[in-house]
Amino acid sequence: MTTRNAERYGDTVFGHEDADERERLEALCAALDPVSFATLDALPRRPVRRCLELAAGTGSVARRLAERHPAAQVTATDLDLRFLDASDHPNLEYVRHDVTSDSFPDASFDLIHARYLLVHLPERDRVLADIARWLAPGGRLVLEESALFPLWAARDEAYRKVSLGVFTVLAERIGTDCEWPLDLPYDVAGRGLTDVEMRITCPTAVHDTPMGRFWRMTIQHLGPAISALPGIGPDDVTTVIDRLSRPGLIEPGMATVTVTATR
Ligand SMILES: C[S@@+](CC[C@H](N)C(=O)[O-])C[C@H]1O[C@@H](n2cnc3c(N)ncnc32)[C@H](O)[C@@H]1O
Repeated sequence: MTTRNAERYGDTVFGHEDADERERLEALCAALDPVSFATLDALPRRPVRRCLELAAGTGSVARRLAERHPAAQVTATDLDLRFLDASDHPNLEYVRHDVTSDSFPDASFDLIHARYLLVHLPERDRVLADIARWLAPGGRLVLEESALFPLWAARDEAYRKVSLGVFTVLAERIGTDCEWPLDLPYDVAGRGLTDVEMRITCPTAVHDTPMGRFWRMTIQHLGPAISALPGIGPDDVTTVIDRLSRPGLIEPGMATVTVTATR
């Protein structure tokens, strides 16, 4: 079921025009790229002529795909292209594309990757069906989505409450669902894809790790809304930002659920 939210990703939440958004997304890339690159590099060697990177953000995965598949045409999309520069990669093009309303022809890509996208889209089930159709027969799908379950196990109470508060605010504002990624292997199989595999990774949130930086900036961005949630004390958000800014706190960050499949 699609829930109607007052706003969408990028309207006021995580808009690319925000002063720190590029730095926040670059911290995310530093935390996640090693796993993404290892997954993409480990795919069986098959001819790849057309790749699609959905919601490219700052473009680190799109550039990697262009370098790994020099004979392929890589199309990378986002709602907002301001952080993307394809000048060093002749086989890479950036296209403004809203995955909830814009399309591609059926069977037009041999490899499709998206990271931290579908959780933020209330229409994720329909979009997943579209993505499956855009894959050519034999094409590979790699989806990496953020899951909140490790945060329930955090030992620092303020960190746990504020971190879970991030997901509550995102669910209420834009319809994010970070419980959903554990459904993803079943949903992908339900779309008729085969060879479905799932891997879960969980980087640590410490002040000087990329995930620690990303999470501190995320909490800063949503701080006033988190502070207004029931059960959050007046100092909880500033306490957690402070603990993520210096040595001491060592807690699980979000998990990344990576699902690969073949059409
Ligand atoms: C959390 S960021 C992840 C960026 C990148 N995939 C990464 O992992 O580094 C989410 C990205 O999705 C893009 N996005 C959000 N809604 C979108 C939509 N409906 N269509 C295309 N891109 C979208 C945002 O602009 C943003 O760049």
